[in-house]
Amino acid sequence: MIVSHHWEEIQKKLESIKEKQLFRETKIYHGIDFCSNDYMGLATNSCMLEYYRSLTDLYPFGSTASRLVRGNYDSMDFFETEFANFVDGEAALLVSNGFVANFGLIDSIAAPNCYVFTDRLNHASILDGIRISGAKKKYYNHLDLQHLQTLLEKANDEDPNQKHKRIVVTESLFSMDGDSPDFHKLLELKKHYGFVLIVDEAHALGVYGKEGKGILFRDLPPEGIQSIDYRVYTLGKSFGLEGGIIVTKQLGRDHLVNVMRPFIFSTAPLPIISKLAIFALNLLRSMESERFQLFELTRELKQSLLTNGFMITNTESHIIPLLLSSETETLTYAKRLQEMGLDVRAIRPPTVPTPRLRISLNAKLTREDTNSLVSALVQIRKDCETVSFP
Ligand SMILES: Cc1ncc(COP(=O)(O)O)c(C=O)c1O
Repeated sequence: MIVSHHWEEIQKKLESIKEKQLFRETKIYHGIDFCSNDYMGLATNSCMLEYYRSLTDLYPFGSTASRLVRGNYDSMDFFETEFANFVDGEAALLVSNGFVANFGLIDSIAAPNCYVFTDRLNHASILDGIRISGAKKKYYNHLDLQHLQTLLEKANDEDPNQKHKRIVVTESLFSMDGDSPDFHKLLELKKHYGFVLIVDEAHALGVYGKEGKGILFRDLPPEGIQSIDYRVYTLGKSFGLEGGIIVTKQLGRDHLVNVMRPFIFSTAPLPIISKLAIFALNLLRSMESERFQLFELTRELKQSLLTNGFMITNTESHIIPLLLSSETETLTYAKRLQEMGLDVRAIRPPTVPTPRLRISLNAKLTREDTNSLVSALVQIRKDCETVSFP
C-alpha cells in the first residue's frame, strides 16, 4: 500500500507558520470598526436598508448561471452603464469581486511573451494574475517610478523591436501603506514607452475625487484618465457590497467577455447586488460632507499619533498603518485593543513586508472613537514598557 504524506506535510507547514507567529484564524468581529474597508459605512447604511426592504422582485436569489448563459439581468447591464458614465469610461464589466477582476483581466491580456511591470506591493490578485498568465514579472520598488523607468529601458535594450508587449499595473491607493503613485509621472512614462496601463482604484473609489470617483479624478485631467487602458474597481469596499468592475473601451470589454475565464466559467453575481449597487452609487455621489468629515478625522488622528510618538507609514489617506517592531508586539497590541472594544487588526508577512496595525477610518467613526483609540494605544505602550518582544 502506498501512503500519501499529504497530511503530515500540512501539519509541518502549519507548525512552521505558528512558530513564526503568523498563524491566522477566522474570528467573529467585535468592537468599534477600525479595520474594515467599509469606508463610507454603506454596509450598514439605513437608506440602503430601506431600499433593500422596498424591493419586491427578489427572485431569483441566485443568478443561476454564468452571465453568458442565463445569469445576466437588466440590473447588471444598467449598473454597468451607470458606472461607466460615472467614471467617464466607455464600457464597464461587472464580475464577482475585485480579486477576479484583477486576476482575470491580467490573465486575459498578458501572455508568456509579455513583460508585466508591477509595484512590489501590489495586491495578491494582481500578482497571481501575472503568475497565471505566464508573463515575465518585473517588480519595481514601491512607488519608485525612477526604478520603473530603469526597468523599461532595460526591456528596450533586451527587446528593441517591442516583440514583447509591456504592461504596467499599480494600485491608486495602497491598502497596506495608504500611499499613492505620482500619476503625472506615470503617464509621462506611458507616453514615452508605450505600455498598457492598469490602475486598481479598489481603496480609493467612494472616498477620493469629486463624488468619490477615485484618486485618478483627484490627480489627473480628463484626457489623462482617458489614456489609462484599464481601471479596476471593487464593490467590496466603499460600496459595502461585493463585486468587481473593469472599466475600459468597448473593444476591451468585448474581448474580456469572450476570453476572461473567471467571467465565463463562474456563476454571475447575485442579481440583488447590482440593484443595491445602483442605489449605492447614487448615495455615494451625494456623500461630500461625510467625505469631508472622514478627511478631518484622518488629519486629526495622524497628528495625534505622531504627537504621541507612534510611528506611522508615509500615508496620505484614511488608511493609517502604525508600525511596530515585531509580529509578537503587533499581535499583543491588536489583542489588547480588541479586549478594550477597539477592532484593530495586526497585519503580518506575507501580506506585508513588516508587521503593523492597519488602522482604517470610516465615515461612521467619531472623534470620541479616535480619541479612545489613541488613549488605548498609549496605555498599552505603557503596560508593555518592561516587556521585551522577540
Ligand atoms: C488593491 C486591491 N485590489 C483588489 C482587491 C480584491 O477586491 P475584492 O475584495 O473585491 O475581491 C483588494 C482586496 O483587498 C485590494 O486591496
